Amino acid sequence: MKTKLRFIFYPEAFFIGLMVLSFSNASFAKETSYAPVSITKTFAEIMKEDSQNKSALMKKHNKLLNERYNLSGKVDSKITMSGGKPLPIGPTVKLKNKLTWDALSKMSPKEIKQKSIFPYLPLPHVSPDGGGLVVAPAQLKTHPELTRFDMEFDLPDTYLPQFPPPLYLISRPDLGDVSGGDEITLNNYYAMLNGILTPFQLDGMRLLVTPVAQQQFNVTTDRKTKIAQDAVSCFTCHVNGHTSGVFHLNPDNRPQNTRFRIDTPSLRGVNIQHFFGSKRALRSLEDFSEVEAKTAYFDGDPVIALKKGARRFTREEIAAMAAMQNMIAFPPAPKLGIDGKLNPAKATESELRGQKIFADSCASCHTPPYYTDNSAHDLQVERFYNGRAEGLIKTFALRGIKDSPPYLHDGRLLTLEDTVEFFNLILETHLNQEQKTDLVAFLQAL
Ligand code: HEC
Ligand code: HEC
Repeated sequence: MKTKLRFIFYPEAFFIGLMVLSFSNASFAKETSYAPVSITKTFAEIMKEDSQNKSALMKKHNKLLNERYNLSGKVDSKITMSGGKPLPIGPTVKLKNKLTWDALSKMSPKEIKQKSIFPYLPLPHVSPDGGGLVVAPAQLKTHPELTRFDMEFDLPDTYLPQFPPPLYLISRPDLGDVSGGDEITLNNYYAMLNGILTPFQLDGMRLLVTPVAQQQFNVTTDRKTKIAQDAVSCFTCHVNGHTSGVFHLNPDNRPQNTRFRIDTPSLRGVNIQHFFGSKRALRSLEDFSEVEAKTAYFDGDPVIALKKGARRFTREEIAAMAAMQNMIAFPPAPKLGIDGKLNPAKATESELRGQKIFADSCASCHTPPYYTDNSAHDLQVERFYNGRAEGLIKTFALRGIKDSPPYLHDGRLLTLEDTVEFFNLILETHLNQEQKTDLVAFLQAL
């Protein structure tokens, strides 16, 4: 009986399976996970087309920015990043319908969604179709070779980390910033760090600053620079072990139009973190360094990587790069004690009140002393707007947070004030203005 049933059932299942397969093939026929390998246009043709399209592309994107943000460039004259750059002041977003923050935070997520008034929508890449690494003007001054002919960086310098930022070492806290205010490159790393780092760490540093081929900066016809070159190092994006604010598209999603903008995170304090990447959760720095040479460098596409000349690191080189990254420290936070919490003798009243609010509302995810739970959460931001859910994202550490605007994985929050308004909505905490000011003061002390 059993055998007979199976005999009858299987051919049917097989037939249905075939139908489903051919149906799904048909409906997804236009999508592909891969970048085009064979480019048939000449480089001159591609460059001409891209250059012609650039002004329309920038106009469209800048219109979106101006609709959402008030980019006044207002800064705080007293509070600076650890390298001395003034902190930008927010909130920077424009509220619709002449609403106040108080009125907005009293509305339910559903009401905000229905009225289309959520001020913190995902920030798109300048060119969501094209994507790729886009370098800010401050860095282009010393690296004109990183100028793309198809697009420009979008956010004003006020809302970016200091360039170049300080480098602090876990092994030598006595030295403070070891960069001397310079950008660490292949040309100066040895003179700068010989005698401070171990030979193994020095070799790791050499690899981290060695420029190699990358998706938009290489020698093939689908590069985005006039001159054929291998020009991108790990420290192009993670300048001095921190971040220059370079963004590209997140490597974890396909097809192309589901990939969101991703802001380069700092490598400060990676030694205390347990997994790497906003979604990928790679378990070691060694693993991350190994795959980063395919993801950040070639959009996570091993086929295109091979064509454009990907560098393959040996396991020993990877270990050296990880050893070096493990020495990159968070910036000093003179007001924090050994438990990572404020020392009451050094903190202001406002900072202490902010710490209390933070302990109640934020610390379950951002746990001291480094202000991360080494986990990932789905903040379900799509409760507030019509659009694609972004899902689980790593809890980024908040130690040294004032040094790395813009905030969130895509950089949509330009200032710390914006992060507080954002979480006040997300967590539905209904904080008043004084509480929000205190919370910002606390974040600045981290
Ligand atoms: C094009 C710019 C770019 C380059 C070049 C680059 N990175 Fe990254 N890096 C990023 C971005 C963006 C992320 C965040 C990726 C994500 O969230 O999945 C990241 C994430 C990381 C992380 C994880 C940080 C965290 O908090 O989870 C490490 C470690 C890292 N990169 C190391 C490297 C190393 C080593 C190299 C050189 C082999 C490198 N990166 C080259 C942009 C870059
Ligand atoms: C449920 C866990 C959770 C709670 C509670 C939480 N956060 Fe976060 N926080 C996250 C996650 C996850 C991210 C990364 C989200 C992303 O990039 O999309 C994040 C990102 C941030 C960032 C940006 C970090 C960066 O490097 O860009 C700041 C600042 C921040 N949180 C502050 C706060 C404050 C202030 C509170 C309390 C008012 C708070 N968070 C409460 C999980 C949480």
